[in-house]
Amino acid sequence: MKTYSFPKGFLWGGATAANQIEGGFQEGNKGLNVADVLPGGKERLNILMNAGFDFEIHQDQYYYPNHEAIDFYHRYQEDIRLFAEMGFKAFRMSIAWTRIFPNGDELEPNEDGLIFYDRVLDELHKYGIEPVVTLSHYEMPLHLVKEYGGWRSRQVVTFFERYVKAIFNRYKNKVKYWMTFNEINSALVMPINGLGFSIQKEEDKYQPTFQAYHHQFVASALAVKLCHEMIPHSQIGCMILFAPVYSFDSNPENVMYALQEEHLFNYFCADVQVRGEYPAFMKRYFKEHQIELEIQDGDLELLKEGAVDYIGFSYYMSRTEKKVKTKEEATQGNIIGGIRNPFLHASDWGWEIDPIGLRISLNKLYNRYQKPLFVVENGLGAYDKTEEDGTINDDYRIDYLCEHIKAMGEAIEDGVELMGYTSWGCIDMVSMSTGEFSKRYGFIYVDKHDDGSGTLERKKKQSFFWYKDVIASNGQNL
Ligand code: BG6
Repeated sequence: MKTYSFPKGFLWGGATAANQIEGGFQEGNKGLNVADVLPGGKERLNILMNAGFDFEIHQDQYYYPNHEAIDFYHRYQEDIRLFAEMGFKAFRMSIAWTRIFPNGDELEPNEDGLIFYDRVLDELHKYGIEPVVTLSHYEMPLHLVKEYGGWRSRQVVTFFERYVKAIFNRYKNKVKYWMTFNEINSALVMPINGLGFSIQKEEDKYQPTFQAYHHQFVASALAVKLCHEMIPHSQIGCMILFAPVYSFDSNPENVMYALQEEHLFNYFCADVQVRGEYPAFMKRYFKEHQIELEIQDGDLELLKEGAVDYIGFSYYMSRTEKKVKTKEEATQGNIIGGIRNPFLHASDWGWEIDPIGLRISLNKLYNRYQKPLFVVENGLGAYDKTEEDGTINDDYRIDYLCEHIKAMGEAIEDGVELMGYTSWGCIDMVSMSTGEFSKRYGFIYVDKHDDGSGTLERKKKQSFFWYKDVIASNGQNL
């Protein structure tokens, strides 16, 4: 069987986000964020994106899975010990902005929040695990959403800069790898998570969305610049949701459509953050959608100066596109759109599984940017079953991860520079899109269920032992 050569020092590990694991949603003076008003269930994003949503907690009506999540807030030592047992070299986590600035617009950071992450980072270093920290992962302070309209407001750039300064200052000796905004491009399909506002029905979505994007790009560039100044030995990346777009067939109409979708979804944000400038194709897009960006003096220079050092991206699926879809076809695609690909099978949640798509993504990104790449999310959400003897035999997850790791090995042979791999949801947690606990990604099972019941006990799945061996052999034993 073919074996693959991963570079020395390859950052093997797992990935999480604060709002999906921590819980303790009101502990240590934490303020509320967008994830705290997300109810459990498959309709959660639709409820939140509904124009009439009031951004309040309705305890009598809904269950809120992120409030306790998997209680990492109190159990981080046990969890990190398990990551260390698997041999993790890196752990991707995010800092909850609302632990540090509960409302988002305070002048001084909250010491209790800073202490919590000091403890988590120290615990990781105790085992030689390198933290990879996302500054903002779908957890915007709710106060900024309600009072300022999220990233629509230019003032939010100043608040973000203050937050970033506070954490760079505090953790400069503890964190070498940073990322700015999680899946920044995803706001094109779900603006509430990333940009902090819903699109009101009567309102034209284009102008506010792209203006908010501009503010976020400026904030990202400021963070990159600050990071380089304050922590010279560090590296800071962007984070893109990358889903290569395939044309359904060789009809040039469909091929062109697939290319346009790829430009907008996969490359627009990455071009701004990696090359430091708006791509040429957006000029036409802005014109056709009557978008006129308010760009302040110095912004464009700042974008150039704030180009990232590496490209972090999530990869779960590819997307197959056709210019004109029937109603039925349009409902059969992936979560991010498209139509069904007849050559692929999908997960229980309809996400099409395509390991070759990862090799394609790595090649596309490297050919376009020639910057180091980091796969910071990839994994299979699946139902797991505990056997009578207590074991959890998740061979389907092992197969999925194994095929994707092989695809990375192939891409490295293709010449791609790859820094690491942190698989998503190294421990079971709240699903972002559905709020379910039963959509499990972990190597570690957490006894917590969709109705909120469960002991929170942690158990090692079969994949735990498999991944441990993958890491110990630096990807040779798959
Ligand atoms: C990514 C997000 O889009 O996908 C994560 O960055 C998320 O926050 C992950 O959890 C998997 O999605 P889901 O909906 O299955 O949790």
